[in-house]
Parts: sequence; C-alpha cells; structure tokens
Amino acid sequence: MKFYIATDHAGFALKSYVIDLLETRGHEVVDLGPGDDFRVDYPDFAKKCALKVVEDDGSFGILICGTGIGISVSANKVSGIRAALCHDAYTASMSRAHNDANILCFGERVVGKGVIESMIDAFCDTSFEGGRHKDRVNKIEGCQTGKID
Ligand code: RB5
Repeated sequence: MKFYIATDHAGFALKSYVIDLLETRGHEVVDLGPGDDFRVDYPDFAKKCALKVVEDDGSFGILICGTGIGISVSANKVSGIRAALCHDAYTASMSRAHNDANILCFGERVVGKGVIESMIDAFCDTSFEGGRHKDRVNKIEGCQTGKID
C-alpha cells in the first residue's frame, strides 16, 4: 500500500515511528511533514495529505495531531476523503470494512505505540465490504450539498 503521512507539532514525535512501522511491513511512505516540532496549524497538513490521497488513486493517508480531532475534521472537508479518527484495532478495522476510510487518524496524546501498531495492522489488513456499505459511503459526498435526499 502507498501512504502519505503528515502531522502537526503535537503528532510529530510519532511520525518516524509510524514511518518505520509501515516501511518494515513493505509499504511505500511519503512524508509530507512537518520537518520538526515547531508549532504549526493542523489544517495545513491535513489538507496537504488529503489532496495527495485524492489525486493519487488507491493511496491512503495517516494523519496525527494531539487528539486526532482537528486533523481528521480538517481532512474530511476535502471532497473524496473519508478520514477516520480511530482509537483501537476495532475502530481502525471497521473504518475500512464499513466506511472505506482512506485516511487513518489518531492522537499522539491519546494512544500509545502498541495500540498504534495494532491499528495500522487492522487498517492495512481489512478490505471494504462494499454492498450496503457502498450505498451509504456514496451518500457521504451528498452531505455536502445540504439537501435531504
Ligand atoms: C495542538 O495543541 C492541538 O490542539 C492539536 O494537535 C489537536 O489536538 C487539535 O485537534
């Protein structure tokens, strides 16, 4: 799998750990920054990653901030992005199986390295189930129109 990864300053300390984890498992990883832990704004890095995932068909993203909230909310503003804020292997697996998530988000201040490893494995090892879930996922983009179907 190909992953784009980005963080803010509050997720920066985990970035190299996650890159190593992914590369050890044979995945391709593109680091979109930041290059240090100076204070930055999470929407800037969420947008950078989300746009790459949308333009590079079949790729995935990983976004990390302090809680995972700001960076996931921001990424989900980009059309075509389904960024899932996960807390454990179950939510990471379900984000793929039912929501066809294309970006995995989590918070450096929330989850430890063992949980992160299990989330990444669950995310990578689970495929979208399609079927009735596909109909629901198709409706996600419709939420942006503001119209009730
Ligand atoms: C930065 O202090 C923090 O607000 C940010 O990383 C994130 O947790 C926001 O949702």
